[in-house]
Amino acid sequence: MSANYEVRGSVAVITLNNPPVNGLGHATRKATAEGIERAENDAAIKAVVIAGAGKAFSGGADIREFGSPKALAEPNLLSLIARVESCSKPVVAAIHSVCMGGGLELALGCHYRVAAPGTKVALPEVKLGLLPGAGGTQRLPRALGVEPALNMIVSGEPVNSELLAQVPGQVLFQKIVEGDLLDGAVAFAMEVADKRPLPRVRDLKAQHPEPQGYFQFARNTVQAMSKHFPAPLQCVDAVAAAVSQRFEDGMKAERDAFAQLMLTPESKALRHAFFAERAAAKIPDVPEDTPLRPIQKVAIIGAGTMGGGIAMNFLNAGIPVTLLEMKIEALDRGIETIRKNYEAQIRKGKLKEDKYAQRMALLQGTLSYTEIGDADLVIEAVFEDIGVKEQVFRRLDEVMKPGAILASNTSTLDVNKIASFTKRPQDVIGTHFFSPANVMKLLEVVRGAATAKDVLATVMALGKKIRKTCVVSGVCDGFIGNRMIEQYSRQAGFLLEEGCTPQQVDKAVERFGFAMGPFRMGDLAGNDVGWYIRKRRYIEKPDLRYSKTADLLCEMGRFGQKTGAGWYDYQPGKRDAIPSRTVLEMIDMHRSALGITPRKISDEEIVQRLVFALVNEGARILEEGIALRASDIDMVYLTGYGFPLWRGGPMCYADTVGLYNVVQTMKRFARNPLDDGKFWEPAPLLARLAEQGKGFTD
Ligand code: 3HC
Ligand code: NAI
Repeated sequence: MSANYEVRGSVAVITLNNPPVNGLGHATRKATAEGIERAENDAAIKAVVIAGAGKAFSGGADIREFGSPKALAEPNLLSLIARVESCSKPVVAAIHSVCMGGGLELALGCHYRVAAPGTKVALPEVKLGLLPGAGGTQRLPRALGVEPALNMIVSGEPVNSELLAQVPGQVLFQKIVEGDLLDGAVAFAMEVADKRPLPRVRDLKAQHPEPQGYFQFARNTVQAMSKHFPAPLQCVDAVAAAVSQRFEDGMKAERDAFAQLMLTPESKALRHAFFAERAAAKIPDVPEDTPLRPIQKVAIIGAGTMGGGIAMNFLNAGIPVTLLEMKIEALDRGIETIRKNYEAQIRKGKLKEDKYAQRMALLQGTLSYTEIGDADLVIEAVFEDIGVKEQVFRRLDEVMKPGAILASNTSTLDVNKIASFTKRPQDVIGTHFFSPANVMKLLEVVRGAATAKDVLATVMALGKKIRKTCVVSGVCDGFIGNRMIEQYSRQAGFLLEEGCTPQQVDKAVERFGFAMGPFRMGDLAGNDVGWYIRKRRYIEKPDLRYSKTADLLCEMGRFGQKTGAGWYDYQPGKRDAIPSRTVLEMIDMHRSALGITPRKISDEEIVQRLVFALVNEGARILEEGIALRASDIDMVYLTGYGFPLWRGGPMCYADTVGLYNVVQTMKRFARNPLDDGKFWEPAPLLARLAEQGKGFTD
């Protein structure tokens, strides 16, 4: 059943019923249209109410139907809305909780709307790279006024119903109903049952005093803010059409733009990211109703760069935190850093004083393990050294209460080994936060061989609560993100040896859309981190070749911004990367020592070598089961590594290029004697999919 029909006195109530959010899929549209027909033909019915069952009025068009014939099957959203609007009896939308996209467009097609307070109202299509395609750009400006409507359409952000009801001159909501919404809606429907003529769309031409200038200003602003996305500008044009054209013509302009945007790679990428984020929360062998362990108190071991940032996540969510350090100076420094971070947020107007005080009151420091034994979750963030981790986990095993979750923030060490330091490996898990941990969205949740399902489910749920995007990773060196980035960095090193400058590589990658190129990123994160890992690799994998340029850089003490010099020079207190003559000379000398004559390398080759290095390693990670799905890898890169959102992540991007083309290009790279030919052998999964004409994310 996808919409229910019932009669209350002389009012027919049609209740959208398509969990989880009453997406307007075909069955729901059909049942709603049938309900209108039935009410129209029943002489005892004087008015109709359309409401939503469960946790939403409607989340909009059923995005699971996008691209399938069902999306267009009659009645489609447009014809359903037209049918509602043409009903000879008044139709009232009764709106609660969530009213978005096509859901709002359906409501706008009703003659009247009443809403519960606190309802989130939005036209979020722009976030999927689209514009509202069922009349939203034409009807919302008419109901709410041009400027507030345009703001909602271009931003896609939800606005509370009671705020919208206060907009001067609006006819979006006739009433905000306190108390039982359906009772209020039925009573309202009775009030207007005999009123004629029924409200119809009004002409907008007179509504903006200076439409030309206003829309030009809007276009300029939107273009500057969304240069890689075509949808926002199309939103402005569609609303401009609402003002300057007849309703029918504006509807046609909107329809054409919607159809065009639907086919853009940007929209495909955004829709992919929307589903990828939700898919990442699902773990095939962990049922959704797995009972969770209560997490009311958290302890963090180590108040350094990561420990402090991790603590802030929990404080922000109202969860008390105890920070444990070895020495009082380190503890004080850690707490002081947290304080300073919050104070900076206050200065920027992002945090209120009272909230700050509440958060700091939830924070305690200690030097003693006996004070953290009753925490429900403890996260270790001490030095990346297996000996230190062993000491800490053995101690945690002694002091933590039974059932407490023991997590490690290690970025490279073996979580199974860490678990083996305890007598409760089922309670041990990896929580790999990204730096700065209070800012970055990504949390890789590392599932050890023995990690209990309820521990995994609890950490995933907690991650959502602290507003992280959680992606499950199996145990391997570097997990998903860093294992892939190592191959990307190796390629960046080879590019320097073959003829590139750091700034050429960074510029090419930044033009592709990465937030930062590999060398600026190295300078920010600290070049010594990679150096430390490479030294380990030289012993573990003596046959694996790395460019030595990064080692030479570190031998010069150029660790990056923190030492005032790295791949670039930095002026004191500033972050601007200035090309460095010293570094270019070092690279030149290194090339001469290797007997390499530098060649000119195109931006296209730079980008392909770096991005396809991610893709090939990603394919291996997928085949080994370290990542559950290709879209999880994309989420890691979109939320943790600044991969351009409009390209959907490395795996989605490879699909857009076509895996056959990716494989052919890799084969070409494999023939380059200065590169690592073995690495460029396409991963078996990639080769198979390319041969079958399939993609990673099909
Ligand atoms: N259609 C179908 N399923 C939808 C949906 C939709 N429009 N919106 C959300 N869902 C599903 C999600 O995929 C998820 O499914 P899952 O449990 O199987 O993973 C479930 O609903 C719950 O979603 P969330 O985890 O996001 O739950 P929240 O309660 O946090 O948020 C929401 C609910 C505010 C509705 C949020 O999901 C959202 O913003 N959805 C997108 C809404 C949207 O973009 N609508 C526009 C659609 S395009 C359109 O209408 C075109 C028209 O103009 C022609
Ligand atoms: P850090 O050096 O800034 O902080 C480590 C802190 O742990 C120090 O304050 C130290 O005094 C404390 N410490 C050391 N041994 C301890 C012990 N036995 N008991 C209590 N406290 C102890 O290190 P950082 O950068 O915060 O890294 C911590 C962990 O997080 C490491 O495992 C690292 O690999 C990982 N990580 C680091 C990232 C980064 O970008 N810095 C990113 C993701 C993970």
